[in-house]
Amino acid sequence: MNHILSLHPYAGETIGSIIDFSLTLKQYRRIMPFREALRGHTIALIFEKPSTRTRASMSVAAAELGATPIYYRRDELQLVRGEPVKDVARVLSRYHSLLAARVYSHDTLVEMAEYSSVPVVNLLSDKYHPLQALADYATIKEKKGRIKGIVIAFIGDGRDNVFNSLAIAGAKLGARVRVASPPGYEPTPSLLGEAYGHVEVYRDPCEALKGADVVYTDVFVSMGQEEEREKRLRAFLPRYQVNSRLLECVGKDDFIFMHCLPAHRGEEVTDDVLESRYSVVFDQAENRLHTAKAVLLFLLKNMLPRQKDSIIPAPREL
Ligand code: CP
Ligand code: NVA
Repeated sequence: MNHILSLHPYAGETIGSIIDFSLTLKQYRRIMPFREALRGHTIALIFEKPSTRTRASMSVAAAELGATPIYYRRDELQLVRGEPVKDVARVLSRYHSLLAARVYSHDTLVEMAEYSSVPVVNLLSDKYHPLQALADYATIKEKKGRIKGIVIAFIGDGRDNVFNSLAIAGAKLGARVRVASPPGYEPTPSLLGEAYGHVEVYRDPCEALKGADVVYTDVFVSMGQEEEREKRLRAFLPRYQVNSRLLECVGKDDFIFMHCLPAHRGEEVTDDVLESRYSVVFDQAENRLHTAKAVLLFLLKNMLPRQKDSIIPAPREL
């Protein structure tokens, strides 16, 4: 059984196929391909933290494929009264075809996967955000036409969940991932595994940005890190803020700006950069939907086309 807790176990070819499949699903969305493919399936969406994109994209993806998403807030489950994760996983996996969860501790997902009888998907943990990385690379492929050799400069926390998944997928797909972080926030081998050796580590954000095709940042204070807010802002600001002056370091005009959202405008990025012609953040957010669909079809129907056009049925079959 396949779980997606992180992209570590997946080959670049598999990740690349999911990305291509997503872009095909996007292209054909108007004719609603596979609208009955998951009929009869229900999908559990368990959230310990807030969400806009992840909850909405997974819910709509399920609905557009004929499945029913069921949303569970942690504080409405017996988990909050101490029911063990392993019991919740064993019970919910008898009802649902797939358990997807956004958790504080990655260990919660590992335990869920150990006890679940159906696939478990990480909707963001303190360590990884694999579905975000799939949408990120789908966006890069869409905007730049390729992934291999593309230079991505991530400015910010080198231990951030979004960065970790970006770096892991990037290493497998042949992207060149750079990161510029202040002391104490550099990437770590314990989170990146083999991908660590592929990441180009910088202290100076301007150096990291030189010639980049993609400029990426995420919040300096993630969900669950609120108590460290002052310390973190002192470490990152003002040097690591992506603003129009810093972007001059890129030295060319055909780069794109990416952010997983939600953004803290005025902290990691300025409003004018987010709203600039370089910014692709809303296409990136939309791509969460198309990648979510590809992931559901991959996990529940074992669909993973190699030829991107061969998978859409002829119109008469729809
Ligand atoms: N990018 C992302 O995961 O957004 P949400 O927190 O709104 O789900
Ligand atoms: N790093 C952020 C990502 C939010 C989508 C967080 O964990 O809060």
